[in-house]
Amino acid sequence: MKSAFVTGANKGIGFETAKQLTELGYFVYIGSRDKAKGIEAIEKLKALGFSNVDCIELDVTDINSIKSARQELEVKTQHLDILINNAGIRGEVPQPASKVPIERLRLVFETNFFGAVQTTQVFMDLLKKADQPRIVNVTSDLASLTNHSDPTWKFYPFKSSAYSPSKTALNAYTVMLAFELKDTSFKVNCVNPGHTATDFNNYKGEKPIEQGASVIVKYATLDKDGATGKFFSEEGETAW
Ligand SMILES: NC(=O)c1ccc[n+]([C@@H]2O[C@H](COP(=O)([O-])OP(=O)(O)OC[C@H]3O[C@@H](n4cnc5c(N)ncnc54)[C@H](OP(=O)(O)O)[C@@H]3O)[C@@H](O)[C@H]2O)c1
Repeated sequence: MKSAFVTGANKGIGFETAKQLTELGYFVYIGSRDKAKGIEAIEKLKALGFSNVDCIELDVTDINSIKSARQELEVKTQHLDILINNAGIRGEVPQPASKVPIERLRLVFETNFFGAVQTTQVFMDLLKKADQPRIVNVTSDLASLTNHSDPTWKFYPFKSSAYSPSKTALNAYTVMLAFELKDTSFKVNCVNPGHTATDFNNYKGEKPIEQGASVIVKYATLDKDGATGKFFSEEGETAW
């Protein structure tokens, strides 16, 4: 059975992504920094009739937690087919460029950038054992410098100077990793779920969670002819 690991999957888009992958027949590991919340999440899926789900404690900002999660995972599966770096925070707002506290910037980068990078690095050997490994880095259209330079873009005034750069950096890392893996069967992409109603935005997002998660699932399950090193949203390729 193919397997998938989703970070920050105890709730929100991550949970729904895990649910949709479970429905597709993957064995899904729900990453949760709070073990109890992870157990609660898998119980919800088990109550819906799915048995192909488990949870593993993982805090993406803690290298020891990531290494323990990898050790726990390799006892349960020989290979990992999909890694979805979904865990993310917005950070306290406002984040004006001229005075966003450096500590706030570092905190957001710890989760959204360094967290995804170190999780990817620690899980890489298990991914390499899969026939067609896929990595999705969950990003945002707020990461697009092209969008941020376009005064007609609907989110043009939404300048969060910690959150957006952390996701722009994640996009850049995705391009670097995809290049490194270009002669292998890996597909590595960044995917924007779109403005989705979750705790992240006090449910002000326009999209239902099923719709946001389905974009991630689409690019996590690309076939061998699929793209790599790209930035995708529901509408298709997004400008960097
Ligand atoms: N919602 C949107 O409109 C939107 C738009 C574009 C991109 N995104 C991106 O989509 C992803 C999911 O967001 P969401 O809307 O589902 O937000 P959410 O409901 O707030 O869920 C975020 C998840 O990340 C987890 N998390 C945070 N810090 C973590 C850490 N250090 N280690 C492990 N897990 C951690 C949270 O765990 P706890 O429950 O323990 O806090 C939670 O499970 C994020 O990367 C976000 O940037 C969201």
